[in-house]
Amino acid sequence: MHIKPLEAEEERLACLEIARGLPEWFNEAGLEAMERDLKSETTFIAVENGRVLGFITVKPIDKKALEILWMAVTREFRGKGIGTEMLRFVERWAEERNFEILVVKTSGDLSYKPYDETRRFYERRGFVRVALIDPYPEWGEEALIYVKCIKR
Ligand SMILES: CC(C)(COP(=O)(O)OP(=O)(O)OC[C@H]1O[C@@H](n2cnc3c(N)ncnc32)[C@H](O)[C@@H]1OP(=O)(O)O)[C@@H](O)C(=O)NCCC(=O)NCCS
Repeated sequence: MHIKPLEAEEERLACLEIARGLPEWFNEAGLEAMERDLKSETTFIAVENGRVLGFITVKPIDKKALEILWMAVTREFRGKGIGTEMLRFVERWAEERNFEILVVKTSGDLSYKPYDETRRFYERRGFVRVALIDPYPEWGEEALIYVKCIKR
């Protein structure tokens, strides 16, 4: 498995397919926003034997903060370390570009089980909850904001 920047249109479609296969996390509105972001922002993909297994999309908030907009691993490959590797890749990429923190927004609906796994994923990898915004204006529902300091 290797991680590389998303370049080809077919890779972009593969990312959308992965997200479509995870409807507990990505609804239609999310998929539409994702489709736009996959065209305009920086995405890295995890590839094995020519197959895209996961992706992570990032966007600078300013010179110091890089936001993870989207991240997903195809369902049958979840829990095998691909997400951790993609996150590590982005951390190194961000450090090299002098970003000091990573930011990620996730669902703040603490009763919604699928996002428990997501929150646990980020928390075990050093992300700290800094705010619960309810409702987050763009979403119309609650959002948890996580940050991770990557400055050495
Ligand atoms: C969050 C996500 C990107 C992480 O990628 P991943 O390749 O599954 O992550 P890893 O294998 O590196 O780590 C997953 C962790 O969850 C645990 N886990 C338990 N059950 C799991 C399951 N059914 N599927 C995935 N992970 C599971 C793993 O054991 C591991 O635990 P750890 O934190 O103790 O190491 C991926 O699971 C995913 O696509 N989730 C759904 C979409 C999502 O939440 N996206 C992020 C918000 S935009």
